[in-house]
Amino acid sequence: MRSFDTLRALLEQRIATWCAQLPANGLYAPMGYIMQLPAKRVRPVAVLMAHELFGGDAEQVMDEALGIELFHNFTLMHDDIMDAAPLRRGRPTVHMKWDVNTAILSGDAMLVKAHRLMSADGRVSAIFDQRALEVCEGQQLDMAFEQRNDVTLAEYQEMIRLKTAVLLAGALQIGALRAGASDADVERIAHVGEHLGLAFQLRDDLLDAFGDPDKVGKQVGGDLRAGKKTWLLIRGTERAEQQGRFELHEELALSADQRNVPRMIATLRQLGVDREAEKEVERHDSAALDALEAIRVPEPRKQPLRDLADLLMARTH
Ligand code: IPE
Ligand code: IPE
Ligand code: MG
Ligand code: MG
Ligand code: MG
Repeated sequence: MRSFDTLRALLEQRIATWCAQLPANGLYAPMGYIMQLPAKRVRPVAVLMAHELFGGDAEQVMDEALGIELFHNFTLMHDDIMDAAPLRRGRPTVHMKWDVNTAILSGDAMLVKAHRLMSADGRVSAIFDQRALEVCEGQQLDMAFEQRNDVTLAEYQEMIRLKTAVLLAGALQIGALRAGASDADVERIAHVGEHLGLAFQLRDDLLDAFGDPDKVGKQVGGDLRAGKKTWLLIRGTERAEQQGRFELHEELALSADQRNVPRMIATLRQLGVDREAEKEVERHDSAALDALEAIRVPEPRKQPLRDLADLLMARTH
């Protein structure tokens, strides 16, 4: 089993080779652009790690790893249109650098290319298709929740499970399946991925509000401006009502471009919901590590996944 850095370096090579053969035109250039911006590569490395956890050799699942990263980048290209995001990975988003139609079409083509890379094994493409559909369901809920003010924490958790956690779960399942893991173990590794993914999206929401703009690489405060029903905002409005404070309600009643985002951030801090959310991240992180314990493979093989969980806990972008 190899470390995150070693596996990521392997994958970067594969991505560079793949991008080098893309035609230089308006359909394919945006793919090469987004794929080569500096990224963490968490999901494809998860494919490789799960494969090695069950005794496989990462080189055997490079297609699937690349496919997962392509799919993820497709979701980002379309997500940035939906979220009206100007920045991604510290650079202009595809719809800003080119235009919205280009981002829609290039994204569509990326999805097709991702699907093709999953076709060697019917069980793999079935998991991929199921996870991909779930991501769309989660993204739809994310948008629908912008228009509602009565979203519960349970509804939020189901939304982030779908939009984010299931893809990490799917990545681990695919790596495990290709190494010949039993159905029970594939199920167990999916639980690891779901909890890691929930922690991952909670951390993403925390960084969106409280992150260092120089590190995050995205427009900080974008979720609050858009009225996204994140854990922070749902819990924050709940706590505010208990204390008879209405700054968040006042801001939410305004249109997106009139919201005072720094005021919303300051209020969330005063209410202490940042610390509460941190606890929630820790809770899912330990649930992920517990689920990993239940898998019966030689202990040292689990270390790279434990390190990955630590890395995600401490991330600043
Ligand atoms: C961003 O994913 C989208 C979310 C699900 C939060 P990452 O934080 O993994 O972004 P990159 O790929 O490293 O840029
Ligand atoms: C994105 O969630 C989830 C998917 C792309 C499926 P966000 O909208 O929070 O991701 P970022 O913050 O733009 O990366
Ligand atoms: Mg979004
Ligand atoms: Mg977004
Ligand atoms: Mg986000």
